[in-house]
Amino acid sequence: MSWRDFWNGEHAIYVSPRHKALHYRQIATDLIGHIPTRDAVVLDHGCGEALDAARVASACGRLYLCEAAPSVREKLRAMLGGKANVSVVSPEEVEALPEATFDLVVANSLIQYLSRAELEALLVLWRGKLKPGGKLVVADVIPPDVSPLTDASQLLAFAWRGGFLIAALAGLVRTVFSDYRKLRAQYGLSTYTETDIAGLIRAAGYDDVQPQRNFGHNPHRMTFAGTKPA
Ligand SMILES: C[S@@+](CC[C@H](N)C(=O)[O-])C[C@H]1O[C@@H](n2cnc3c(N)ncnc32)[C@H](O)[C@@H]1O
Repeated sequence: MSWRDFWNGEHAIYVSPRHKALHYRQIATDLIGHIPTRDAVVLDHGCGEALDAARVASACGRLYLCEAAPSVREKLRAMLGGKANVSVVSPEEVEALPEATFDLVVANSLIQYLSRAELEALLVLWRGKLKPGGKLVVADVIPPDVSPLTDASQLLAFAWRGGFLIAALAGLVRTVFSDYRKLRAQYGLSTYTETDIAGLIRAAGYDDVQPQRNFGHNPHRMTFAGTKPA
């Protein structure tokens, strides 16, 4: 099994429906915080199930949800079919869009599943698809020194605040025996130091590359924003 098969199949990465709902609510809120204007054209690349995407769509002019897994794209279309300003697209369809389409490109919790070469190629692709002056936000980047134990303790803290602690404890036990853990052991996750990720974004032609508050519940991971030169 590859990461691609994992995301396309049934998985238990969220410990309960409440966890999933609270996660996507927080991600939508964090994403909305970066939308520059009400008519902005926004790409959420590697959006997953994006359960709160309707709220993001209401805060911008047009929202493109890009997801590699066909089964997830089907769920997104079923959920958002009625939203006229949302397009659910594959990575290939993003590549085919005209240059200078977006005001904002966001990728949350995506790049750990990509090789360094895949990330470098995407940074260049996104720069082309951004309008001059448009913003890229790469979020939930894992630094090399964050252990799975830190991730687990941050999940438990989120679960305590969100009222799903018992489900989180059971979920952590399930994770030990899950495909996720096997894949993490087999392929690892791509990690970056602050200097490394900022350097890669700058090298791909972005200006004003700055750390931001991280998306989601884990402050031990990092978010960086950069701007396409005007
Ligand atoms: C950890 S999930 C993150 C989902 C969402 N962004 C969030 O914050 O919850 C990673 C998602 O990225 C998708 N993905 C992986 N590689 C991708 C790629 N190259 N292009 C688009 N989506 C991709 C996976 O199918 C999966 O749904």
